[in-house]
Amino acid sequence: MTLKISVVGTGYLGATHAACMAELGFEVIGLDIDQAKIDSLALGELPFHEPGLPELLRKHVATGRLRFTTDYDQVADWADVHFVGVGTPQRADGHGADLRFVDAAVRELARRIRGEALIVGKSTVPVGTARRLTSLIEAEAQPDSRIMLAWNPEFLREGFAVADTMSPDRLVIGTQDTESVDILRKVYAKALAADTPLIVTDFETAELVKVAANAFLATKISFINSFAEVTETIGGDITTLADALGHDVRIGRKFLNAGVGFGGGCLPKDIRALQARVSELGLTHTMGFLAEVDEINLRRRERVVRLTHAMLNDDLVGKKIAVLGVTFKPDSDDVRDSPALDIAVRLYNAGAEVTVYDPKGNKNAAARFPRLDYAPGLAEAVGGADVVLLLTEWAEFRQLAPGDLDPLVASRRIIDGRNVLDRAVWEADGWEIIGMGQHYAP
Ligand code: UGA
Repeated sequence: MTLKISVVGTGYLGATHAACMAELGFEVIGLDIDQAKIDSLALGELPFHEPGLPELLRKHVATGRLRFTTDYDQVADWADVHFVGVGTPQRADGHGADLRFVDAAVRELARRIRGEALIVGKSTVPVGTARRLTSLIEAEAQPDSRIMLAWNPEFLREGFAVADTMSPDRLVIGTQDTESVDILRKVYAKALAADTPLIVTDFETAELVKVAANAFLATKISFINSFAEVTETIGGDITTLADALGHDVRIGRKFLNAGVGFGGGCLPKDIRALQARVSELGLTHTMGFLAEVDEINLRRRERVVRLTHAMLNDDLVGKKIAVLGVTFKPDSDDVRDSPALDIAVRLYNAGAEVTVYDPKGNKNAAARFPRLDYAPGLAEAVGGADVVLLLTEWAEFRQLAPGDLDPLVASRRIIDGRNVLDRAVWEADGWEIIGMGQHYAP
């Protein structure tokens, strides 16, 4: 008998997971409390940009293998496995994760499940959550039910969400019973290669693997950016430094790109939530270095703002600034905690006329900051610009040549916030160009 699967929470993670589970051959119902989101998914329309996902969604809405609902009654008793992928946003006080949605999802399921079922947490949660949820389940469960719980963190990256789900680089399962492992083995059977590591562990380890991974990645980025601060002061080439470091396989080259720093819905939030959680546990100094990681990261934005001031002789009022890229990274329309958007807004607040162009992010950025100008294309954005800022490394921008911009801009000045342009080529064409980690003496 094929397992029936529900996915509670159809945001980024949940929508991807639901479509991929259908692709793996299961009957799937995605549930969300947001009616508008459910309506659009049911029509096969994805409310965000993710390469390859719309095709998968439409395919399985059409096959009937993937359905959507807002009604817990429809899924609780129907599915054998309930994945919970609701959001765990940063709390309003700026610290810690808000677990309201996770608790509500588990409670609503537990109250309604009859017979046997497995609840699988996928959301990123503070360590200790799963164990607490077992008590919640016990308190809410029907007498005739048997509900198991497993924690199965998700490591997908925006822009690669489908590939990361369909062929994960490892599977981590935190649980208290072997039966959940058997069930999850069946669920993921077709997604796992013979050599995909399967790590079966306890709840706490599973929860920690996820936040440790993101904390490590954030630290790696801030590590190289702290060296960027050094080369910005004394000279040196940050990219060559990263390349040379990366040849040591113990270090590796990935996530050593200096730039405007990390953003998005995960890394910044997760390092703050981790610090808050370990403080709650009484370990006030243990994750102290993550506060530094956060600060180094935020200083990158400041650096670009200062460079822009310097390039424009500290007079931003009425100056035209073209911002290329506003999402937190390419191949995404996500502007959550985006360094690029933050920089654009700061420059606007300093009196500049800021025109933004992003291949996918204009709409989301405009919803947050309608007062910036949003251009439909690159040419419109850079037209008459006194300075161009390249802040997100979309392929369209990486390929830019000076000749593309020469006839359009008012002045040949560019800040390369992602170190993707060949400085020598731009300088040879008469541009003033400054990258990250580069010593600047105007
Ligand atoms: C991150 C993790 O990479 C995923 O493994 C994880 O599953 C996900 O969070 C999550 O918790 O859901 P994501 O937020 O999609 O994925 O973005 P990343 O690719 O990690 O990039 C994060 C930020 O770091 C971006 O703003 C990117 O521009 C920046 N970055 C990345 C750098 O500044 N330098 C680098 O060398 C690499």
